[in-house]
Amino acid sequence: MNEIGGFFGLELSSGNEYHKGAIRLNTGRNAFEYILKAKNYSKVYMPYFTCSVMLEPIHKLDLDIEFYHVDAEFYPKFNFDKVQDKEVFLYTNYFGICDHLVERVMKKVINLIVDNSQAFYSKPINGIDTFYSARKFFGVPDGAYLYTETLLDQELEQDTSINRFEHLIGRVETNAKSYYSKFKESDNSLKNQPIKTMSIITQKILDSLNYKKIANVRRQNFEFFENILKESNMLNFDLSKDSVPMIYPYFVDEGYRLKNKLIEENIFVATYWPNVLKWTTPDTFEFNLTQNLLSLPIDQRYDSTELLQIKKNLKE
Ligand SMILES: Cc1ncc(COP(=O)(O)O)c(C=O)c1O
Repeated sequence: MNEIGGFFGLELSSGNEYHKGAIRLNTGRNAFEYILKAKNYSKVYMPYFTCSVMLEPIHKLDLDIEFYHVDAEFYPKFNFDKVQDKEVFLYTNYFGICDHLVERVMKKVINLIVDNSQAFYSKPINGIDTFYSARKFFGVPDGAYLYTETLLDQELEQDTSINRFEHLIGRVETNAKSYYSKFKESDNSLKNQPIKTMSIITQKILDSLNYKKIANVRRQNFEFFENILKESNMLNFDLSKDSVPMIYPYFVDEGYRLKNKLIEENIFVATYWPNVLKWTTPDTFEFNLTQNLLSLPIDQRYDSTELLQIKKNLKE
């Protein structure tokens, strides 16, 4: 029986969910697993430049794997003709700035999965299996969306997120440093989970956000950095009109020195992804990028005050 009355629950607005038509799941990696299982693939072609947790489903399902490189524009260095019927090519929409490359890859390969974990706002292409991970863009501890036409014939348990909120609340009430270990705990608790449906609280938070406003801030902040750093950035962008980036990727010689300096100044620039230094050799683009890329924050928490502070630190 429904409960009526009593104390309140956390109050959130509703009616705004961005990926309304998608399947709601617990994590990006489990969305990836969902497709691999539903389509019964036997082998995955996977970029060297990605997060190690993407291997979880491949090991779980005991699939074959072959890694591929990308060029300096993030386009795969790959002979697409070799992908067979039961094999699939995984492409990552890096930093949310590779929408035009997704379209190019789509035309080349018979079986494709698009990893939009870094491109929450990028709409899926009809008929292409595509997944998203919400916590890379918003203050939620988990949650993923999946677009596919092939449904998995399996009952899924619903996830619960109640034990993964401490770092999110701590980040608001105190600071990131004091709650970094709690963030890691929450992150670790996502490892090796079964495919579940999205928790109620994560879905409610995702239903409450002002997506348009967030997108505008992210694009504006990205443009700020592009205007001042374009000339010295070793990456060239062709940002599509509607793309909403995750961070501003600033790639410079000896970027790791600048990165350490920024971190000392409490400007946290994440490394995408430490595992790539183990998977590749120093002569590769991916190794160099992992070591020297500055992932400058451009998200909805920030405006010109923080951006100018980052700019000042970069100049010094
Ligand atoms: C590119 C990319 N894809 C997928 C994932 C997995 O997402 P989730 O943590 O929601 O499983 C991550 C990071 O965790 C990622 O960086």
